[in-house]
Amino acid sequence: MSVTSPLPHDAARLHVTGAARYIDDIPTPRDALHLAFGLSPVARGKIEAMDLAAVRAAPGVLAVMTAEDLPFANDVSPSVHDEPLLAVDRVNYVGQPVFLVVAESHLAARKAAKLGDLTITEEAPILTIDQALAADSRFEGGPVIWSKGDAATAIAGAAHVVEGAFEMGGQEHFYLEGQAALALPQEGGDMLVHSSTQHPTEIQHKVAEALGLAMHAVRVEVRRMGGGFGGKESQGNALAVSCAIAARATGRPCKMRYDRDDDMVITGKRHDFRITYRAGFDAEGRIAGVEFVQYARCGWAMDLSLPVADRAMLHADNAYLLPHARIESHRLKTNTQSATAYRGFGGPQGVLGIERLMDHAAHQLGIEPVELRRRNYYAAAQGGAAPAPAEPPRSSSGQKKTGRDALPQSTPYGQVIEDFELHGITAALLESADYDARKQAVAQWNSAHGAIKKGIGFSPVKFGISFTLTHLNQAGALVHVYQDGSVHLNHGGTEMGQGLFQKVAQVAASRFGIGLGAVKITATDTAKVPNTSATAASSGSDLNGMAVKAACDEIRDRMAAYLAEQHQTSRKQVRFVDDQVEVGGEVLSFAEAAARCYEGRVSLSATGFYKTPKLAWDRLKGTGRPFYYFAYGAAVTEVAVDTRSGEYRILRADILHDAGASLNPALDIGQVEGGYVQGAGWLTTEELVWDDAGRLRTHAPSTYKIPAFSDQPDIFNVALWDGRNREDTIYRSKAVGEPPFMLGISAFLALSDAVASCGAAYPDLDAPATPERVWAAIRGMRDEL
Ligand code: MTE
Ligand code: MOS
Repeated sequence: MSVTSPLPHDAARLHVTGAARYIDDIPTPRDALHLAFGLSPVARGKIEAMDLAAVRAAPGVLAVMTAEDLPFANDVSPSVHDEPLLAVDRVNYVGQPVFLVVAESHLAARKAAKLGDLTITEEAPILTIDQALAADSRFEGGPVIWSKGDAATAIAGAAHVVEGAFEMGGQEHFYLEGQAALALPQEGGDMLVHSSTQHPTEIQHKVAEALGLAMHAVRVEVRRMGGGFGGKESQGNALAVSCAIAARATGRPCKMRYDRDDDMVITGKRHDFRITYRAGFDAEGRIAGVEFVQYARCGWAMDLSLPVADRAMLHADNAYLLPHARIESHRLKTNTQSATAYRGFGGPQGVLGIERLMDHAAHQLGIEPVELRRRNYYAAAQGGAAPAPAEPPRSSSGQKKTGRDALPQSTPYGQVIEDFELHGITAALLESADYDARKQAVAQWNSAHGAIKKGIGFSPVKFGISFTLTHLNQAGALVHVYQDGSVHLNHGGTEMGQGLFQKVAQVAASRFGIGLGAVKITATDTAKVPNTSATAASSGSDLNGMAVKAACDEIRDRMAAYLAEQHQTSRKQVRFVDDQVEVGGEVLSFAEAAARCYEGRVSLSATGFYKTPKLAWDRLKGTGRPFYYFAYGAAVTEVAVDTRSGEYRILRADILHDAGASLNPALDIGQVEGGYVQGAGWLTTEELVWDDAGRLRTHAPSTYKIPAFSDQPDIFNVALWDGRNREDTIYRSKAVGEPPFMLGISAFLALSDAVASCGAAYPDLDAPATPERVWAAIRGMRDEL
């Protein structure tokens, strides 16, 4: 086996046979209790009275708790203590947990939770972006503004000005396994929590606060999630904390899982955005300057909204050199679910902003859309040489040469682009997708057909890899080699289907030169590796792969030193390959080598630690190097639209994606396929609808349409770009979890292209481009003719 083998997911068989254990499958003691929340039916108001007598009297109910019954902290916020577990005095959205029911069964708890009689004085809710702006309801005081150069002057002097505004919806995570937690009381008041979470340390921290315990008294274990997609970075806190509090109060194990409707009503989703743009282009279609205003609907509590909105700003350039740019970001507070992390973490919204602008500009300037994009790409990377220092990022006027051919080039926030791969990726993709010929064929089809129109769209992605909160870019690992040569592998990352555990196991196996069968993948556990970051920002394998490598190398070096000494040779002469250890002419099995080292009293256990180098980011000023490197990709999508109904199909998608030197091409292609389909779902059929009272009306698969297997493109060609990371990442791989999500934008652009063929104007199409919206956009085009 090599470290880069295309092996299946380590738990693939368990997943498909139903043998994989999720939280609800963990055998629970017979005396376990079950929990459910009583929810606010009102979006905004004051709680005047709570009559919970009927809840308490309901069959099977043991206890009912309100905020007053909580012994210590009443807070499940991951950021600023603004998110009570149970409402205090006020309610802030429809679905907010107000009281907690503890009952003998899941069903008894849920039934009883419906019986609460709440008296709430309703106030007019702030639901929409316009309402929030009118009420000046926001986080962080005013808008955050980052700029480079002087965009307004550059636009004023440009040959062409392109401007517009559009909206993009949020997105429900729709992890297959809903939120769930199980708390088991231990001796001496300690607590063991099983949680479906991307962030075990955060669960440990919040449970400790809620129980008034030190973190050492709480242990959190996560074997796997049935999907997280960002929705389990913070949204599991409420369940885990509730279980721990109820377990402590009753002395019995407590479990909580949300029913799907409750999950959709209670938990936060992707932030919906409105973006306005105004850009100046020269006669050849090169951007002179651009202004973006991004309005993010953050919901009622802060959660992770600030870094999400920051990442949207950091991706406003996507792949394009912006000589002058001004990006303004409004973080609006509304009486809706607290919007949270979702694959791409604001990046997709920022990228869609400029891709929509590029598409609009291509239409207005009459330049082929891919051609226009290529003219605006950052310059290609210059060989492998060390980069020259950057130009100062925000020279206030034009004294400095900031012409687009002056190298090196930097982003609006001043990070130098050292590794730009998109020229090569784009050329190769256009070729393999036969873009030019198909574009012509689409045009011919459209001139010959009225009812069914086709469209073709292209979009690139450049995605920054690292947590923008710099201190989160660290990871730890714990590795044991037993005396029989088998290896116990543990690290701080969590498995949510993305294949992290398998990739990291491949790293461990290759460091010891042993087969994967000798490596035991174990559950994430706060008692084994402390102070971990969420498995997020796509950096799971970058961070944990390196930490595991460090731990394995430590043990391997100790073994080599001991065996070399025994053979009176140098440790450089000790080789670990093919399940064997060669030393001084002798060949031992790895197991024999481990046994000898054990007998020689060599420690065969080590921790490993890694922190990402080179990061230096000033969030307030918006300058520096927030990202260690960028991951790239590009996609071409072709669609067919029935202009009579607005219904459509994705006929074909071609993707070329950069995973560096892939640690596991099979898993990485799976991430690219899944990311694309999820991204296309966001922009096509997945629509969240709130009514005027703030009730989410799309809270089940019957009304919220995620892509089905049959919705994937009829022809789906996905390939990995044959590259290696210029930065020294684990085996020169690149993070792959989130970047391909943004390739789904090409599907949206293809739909817009099909609509464009129905008239002369640039289509007025918001996202998600549901069949209804596509139909309305076509009507709009025809009305203009
Ligand atoms: N893939 C699967 N199958 N399930 C998931 O929940 N989450 C995505 C991505 N791919 C997810 C997934 C998100 S939001 C992130 S940040 C990364 O995986 C996290 O894992 P990684 O850092 O190991 O790539
Ligand atoms: Mo992913 S949104 O960073 O969990």
